[in-house]
Amino acid sequence: QDHLISATQLSRADIEAVLDRAAEIDADVGAWQGRRDGTVLGLCFFEPSTRTRMSFDTAMKRLGGRTIDMGSVESSSVKKGETLADTVRVIEGYADALVLRHPSEGAAKMATEFVDVPLVNAGDGAGQHPTQTLLDLYTMRENAGLDDVTVGIMGDLKYGRTVHSLAAALTNFDVRQHFVSPESLQLPRSVRYDLHESGAQVREHTDLDEVLSDLDVLYVTRIQRERFPDENEYRKVAGEYQIDTDDLDAAKDSLTVMHPLPRVDEIAPEVDETDHAKYFEQAHNGVPVRMALLDMLLENAEGGSQ
Ligand code: CP
Repeated sequence: QDHLISATQLSRADIEAVLDRAAEIDADVGAWQGRRDGTVLGLCFFEPSTRTRMSFDTAMKRLGGRTIDMGSVESSSVKKGETLADTVRVIEGYADALVLRHPSEGAAKMATEFVDVPLVNAGDGAGQHPTQTLLDLYTMRENAGLDDVTVGIMGDLKYGRTVHSLAAALTNFDVRQHFVSPESLQLPRSVRYDLHESGAQVREHTDLDEVLSDLDVLYVTRIQRERFPDENEYRKVAGEYQIDTDDLDAAKDSLTVMHPLPRVDEIAPEVDETDHAKYFEQAHNGVPVRMALLDMLLENAEGGSQ
């Protein structure tokens, strides 16, 4: 595929191809140094990021390439009113591939109309975050498997783009999905409709206790404060869904706890010391997974295997 905009583009075979290549990279990362010598990746982040920006940066450099970074909105010509279309049109002249994060849903798809180089959606508002999903699936496959597993996804299901991408990707696997959230933050209608159409095994809950003991994976998400039109609505749900080690007494010993990070207060720091906690490993998996994805997109842009 030319661009990666949404996890809904990805078949099981696509996902497994990326995860398998990431596993090869993980096994001997040094062997991949120099594979993309001279390649330049453009980082265009119109919203804050730590993990996605830095792991793409590391991924490109570990493949032997370099990155150029647009910087923040404040320090770039976006501040002077330059449009997204003009910005990506200019940066594609400096780079062989682009990574774009933007606060507007649909921004990445729109940007593909203005560029010929591969473009990766690194998060578009409350829309999609497909590379987060690939590293989530990599972590899940390593720790719990991806078939005949029960996954709980808890927190902000309305505005959480990592949730929207993950839920779509999991429909490719034999996964029972349980969604846990306050009523005001349930899945958007479009995501629920797509899940229903896919025939996925899906249930929705407002109380984690209804399902915790059945789960193989618990994927916790942050309430996306920055996306609430009304701060009062955020305050009504802030802090409602938190887990600590006492809560996890009811879980399977083998439960894998994940979180795309950053966290605020959804997971008590004491959980970090348990065998359940895989969220830092998950964040670190962003490098081999993004190396694999970049390599495959660039390979495709060149018209085949190296
Ligand atoms: N998980 C994630 O997208 O983190 P950043 O916002 O720090 O990139």
